[in-house]
Amino acid sequence: MSQTMTEQAMSSSVATAFASAVPALEVRGVNKSFGALQVARDVNLTLERGARRALIGPNGAGKTSLVNLITGVLKPSSGQVLLGGEDITSWSSAKRARRGLARTFQINQLFRGLSVLENVCLAIGERRGESYNLWRPAGSKAAVIDEALDHLNSLRLVDDALRLVRELPYGRQRLVEIAIALAQRPKVLLLDEPAAGVPSSESHLILDVVASLDPDIAILIIEHDMDVVFRFAQSITVLVAGAVLTEGSPQEILADERVRAVYLGQEADRSHG
Ligand SMILES: Nc1ncnc2c1ncn2[C@@H]1O[C@H](COP(=O)(O)OP(=O)(O)O)[C@@H](O)[C@H]1O
Ligand SMILES: [Mg+2]
Repeated sequence: MSQTMTEQAMSSSVATAFASAVPALEVRGVNKSFGALQVARDVNLTLERGARRALIGPNGAGKTSLVNLITGVLKPSSGQVLLGGEDITSWSSAKRARRGLARTFQINQLFRGLSVLENVCLAIGERRGESYNLWRPAGSKAAVIDEALDHLNSLRLVDDALRLVRELPYGRQRLVEIAIALAQRPKVLLLDEPAAGVPSSESHLILDVVASLDPDIAILIIEHDMDVVFRFAQSITVLVAGAVLTEGSPQEILADERVRAVYLGQEADRSHG
């Protein structure tokens, strides 16, 4: 009997080791066109568990379309998307979200007339499949509020918990969007320009906060500010005209002449000219 238990323990530790080797997210050979415009050309992209990866590329390169393909807003014409090793290509966006794939949007989708805390509680309630309301038993309500405060704490938003979203500075509203995504308890978090429209003094704060999130969450961020990208990312994927031009460490991307030519060229020209 003790031998069986040892075997069980061993096989479960093998299973755990195997599970952690499976990427959090994989995009395999994805293609997508809008009529004659091909926005994804045989795109392959892997996010390991806990990854901190940036997706960069010129305007119109297909970055947002790729996020839409990953989250199921768009269906690829060919290729697969895998979440934790499972093929989710045919799943609805809602099912993907329930299974740990979260995103934020470039546009505000918050309840601006409610408090920060209420917004996050609503999102937690949605995940738990209950509508958060005053008639819930006190125990469950307290648990939801506790969890919401945890998310707000990790985003340094606790002091704003009781303020109405519409009263917050824009940069803090963008952090509330991330709090809503965290309420899904994601394994993978896709951030499409989370600091767009935010003054650069605040955008650095947003990215610092994102960098300090739970290290088990795999994060893919689309961001234009190269200072921010190079500080945040462990790895960078460069997308040009729907295709992956290259990927590598920030140092490798900085040193890559092709990347300079298509993407960093203008900035290099500006700083040297
Ligand atoms: N639903 C759509 N229908 C047609 N064309 C689209 C649609 N969404 C995006 N596009 C086009 O696809 C290209 C890639 O857009 P997008 O993925 O938003 O690029 P990025 O986020 O890199 O700036 C752009 O030329 C854009 O105009
Ligand atoms: Mg975009």
